[in-house]
Amino acid sequence: MGPHVLWLAEWLSQQLELRAGMRVLDLGCGRATSSIFLAKEFGVTVWAADLWIKPTENRVRIEQAGLSDSVFPLSAEAHALPFADAEFDAIVSFDAYHYFGTDDLYLGYLSRFVKPGGRLGIVVPGVREELAEFPPPHLAPYWVSDFCSLHSPGWWRRHWEKTGLLEIEVADALAEGWKLWLEWNELCDEFGRRDLAPLARREAQMLRVDGGRTFGFTRLVARRRAE
Ligand SMILES: C[S@@+](CC[C@H](N)C(=O)[O-])C[C@H]1O[C@@H](n2cnc3c(N)ncnc32)[C@H](O)[C@@H]1O
Repeated sequence: MGPHVLWLAEWLSQQLELRAGMRVLDLGCGRATSSIFLAKEFGVTVWAADLWIKPTENRVRIEQAGLSDSVFPLSAEAHALPFADAEFDAIVSFDAYHYFGTDDLYLGYLSRFVKPGGRLGIVVPGVREELAEFPPPHLAPYWVSDFCSLHSPGWWRRHWEKTGLLEIEVADALAEGWKLWLEWNELCDEFGRRDLAPLARREAQMLRVDGGRTFGFTRLVARRRAE
């Protein structure tokens, strides 16, 4: 649904070890593309949870991939998850965590679902450094209010670290990430839904003007401390 989820999933899995048989929550999975990828690539069992995309739609995709026994779609709101404490070996989230995870108290809620010693990993669109002015002048024509949820690796590190619940293992930016984001918009403009093409074109123009000064992708991997 966003700048390509498989690129983001591949990047995260370079730092977050997944082994066959692990129980993984893919939170904000959208169309469950990443859930299918992780189950296929690593042999993990995935709970594919999302708010906007209904599980019936995702089930069709999962069945077509032959993964009905290892990817379970469900409808879930990130603040009301239907799981037991310590149910997962890992929780991952791609291009979604910034919609619900910038609240200071959210990590305390979510981390209870990971086993002690288990990992949380996210990739979100972000900014290289926290912005000193809003919007930066060169981005003024393109600015939308939702950009306020985009943060730097340093901001995310502190946001998670200050809870004391997790040991941060990685907080970094994807090298030249803005170029992947741009490529995604160019592809959407050329091959995607016609009604969304103007939006893709505008975002592509914004990313070209920015040239990597501001936007990119942020990755975080952290381990839940033993209790
Ligand atoms: C930009 S889409 C990304 C979807 C998918 N991870 C991908 O990269 O293709 C953001 C996703 O976050 C999910 N989301 C947003 N707010 C949520 C919430 N409060 N609880 C659960 N999911 C949420 C939406 O349902 C949506 O599918």
